[in-house]
Amino acid sequence: MTLPDTITDSANQSLPEHVAIIMDGNGRWAQQRGKIRVAGHKAGVVSVRQVVSVASRLGIKSLTLFAFSSENWRRPESEVSALMELFMLVLGREIKKLHEGNIRLRIVGAIDGFSQRLQKKIREAETMTAENTGMVLNIAANYGGRWEIAQATKKIAEKIESGELTSADITESTISENLPLNDMTDIDLLIRTGGDHRVSNFLLWQIAYAELYFTPVLWPDFNEEAFLEAIASFVSRERRFGCTGEQIKSWLNQSSETNQ
Ligand code: IPE
Ligand code: IPE
Ligand code: MG
Repeated sequence: MTLPDTITDSANQSLPEHVAIIMDGNGRWAQQRGKIRVAGHKAGVVSVRQVVSVASRLGIKSLTLFAFSSENWRRPESEVSALMELFMLVLGREIKKLHEGNIRLRIVGAIDGFSQRLQKKIREAETMTAENTGMVLNIAANYGGRWEIAQATKKIAEKIESGELTSADITESTISENLPLNDMTDIDLLIRTGGDHRVSNFLLWQIAYAELYFTPVLWPDFNEEAFLEAIASFVSRERRFGCTGEQIKSWLNQSSETNQ
């Protein structure tokens, strides 16, 4: 497959380094076809495979996918248990391919909320790919942005209690460093499929300056082309990080002159 010129022509630095996706719309996709919701989750696995493959080929450093939120336990028992079974199945089936692709898989979330069987599978998958040097694939499962910030707060409080830190030492970096995945970089591009315009408690800390991309496409219909469209939209945007547009343009000009 060839990539659109908008992407191949761009300097690598203008591609997002870290992309996060709220994979939404599986249930509606299934309902539209008269199928049960779980059929949508199963169909969504194909989109995961495609997006992982394109992201890795593009040289994106990290991809973080929202698979199951802390709030998704509120769904009917039958859907929750079907999702858990699917998670087990997919982990077992896909891990070898990820490993061969030099991808490092990590799960972020309250893993202890899962069955012992699933926890073991997760640990095995993470260990198998731990030394891989290609793209980092984070799967957020039993994850909530507020849970993550609460975890960091707890860790910092423990360090203060033990005398390792004082309250005067606390900066933004202290919080980043004490998050469950403390080497996770900020999100450059956050994609949400399924048409809703909200973040649903995903990566609240890391999306501070993320570019947001919402698409009505339902997750099982989100293919390579749809992903590349999102990347192209990111590439065309000017990120200002609080500066003025003029400042950004003059810095970009300076850096392109020094690179010549
Ligand atoms: C996202 O699809 C997958 C999970 C939350 C596990 P949904 O199941 O939320 O699909 P819709 O939003 O109901 O269509
Ligand atoms: C967000 O989707 C969670 C995942 C994609 C895993 P939801 O479908 O749970 O979000 P809400 O409930 O519509 O906000
Ligand atoms: Mg949904």
